[in-house]
Amino acid sequence: MPESHLPGGFVSGVVRVGDTVRRSPSARPEFVSALLRWFEAAGWDGAPRYLGTDDEGREVLGYLDGHVAWEPRQPAAVSSDESLAAVARLVRAFHDLTAGTALAGGEEVVCHNDLSPKNTVYRPVDGELRPVAFIDWDLAAPGARIHDVAHVCWQYLGLGPSVTDVAAAARRVRLIADSYGLTDRRQLVSTVLWWQDRCRRGIRSGAAAGDPAMRRLRDAGVVTGVRRAHQWVLEHRAVFEDALR
Ligand SMILES: Nc1ncnc2c1ncn2[C@@H]1O[C@H](COP(=O)(O)OP(=O)(O)O)[C@@H](O)[C@H]1O
Ligand SMILES: [Mg+2]
Repeated sequence: MPESHLPGGFVSGVVRVGDTVRRSPSARPEFVSALLRWFEAAGWDGAPRYLGTDDEGREVLGYLDGHVAWEPRQPAAVSSDESLAAVARLVRAFHDLTAGTALAGGEEVVCHNDLSPKNTVYRPVDGELRPVAFIDWDLAAPGARIHDVAHVCWQYLGLGPSVTDVAAAARRVRLIADSYGLTDRRQLVSTVLWWQDRCRRGIRSGAAAGDPAMRRLRDAGVVTGVRRAHQWVLEHRAVFEDALR
């Protein structure tokens, strides 16, 4: 069957073969496959199905039809309040599905750890694109609910110098926290800052150690961009914290 390259990834070299995608295995393939099987057993459609490995050792996952928002310019529906709230509810759903399970390994839940529009499948719902699933579960691991919620705030709102309306961004951070139902928001902004710092250091050290994917990210200017985004969130921290109170 013919293979076609799927655009939009930076790391895994994903191809489509019929109704499946094939990708180089993640660092912890047993964990990811167990997690995707858990979602399937629960009947949750917010992640691809795990279908095994092929004779080239690649992971085989079910192909999810829809629109993956990886390009810089997107239809307005992708970043609408309705879609943002739906992302938060979708995160809540898989957190609740993993809370208290062995997969969560004594932490609150299993976190995706790379939630962003690039890793989200959108489909028309009542004529408007809405998020229906997350892909790219490679970095999933036991963690705290607030970690994924903070990552959503950073990535889906693009928190950084390109934000022109700080008050609107702060209102939308509040919308994410409310739609998720996050009870303790006091650490939300500091968790965004923690992510930005962690991401910048991770790419820098990975690139220095010769990891080709991290080198590509660094050479594309991601380290510099994330440093500026971190500085921007620090500057506007009070506006966001006020909106969350
Ligand atoms: N299960 C899937 N169904 C549909 N498209 C997918 C699926 N998995 C990946 N893709 C496509 O391949 C691209 C890269 O996949 P992703 O898993 O995000 O890889 P990377 O680790 O390189 O970011 C995505 O942007 C999406 O377009
Ligand atoms: Mg991806």
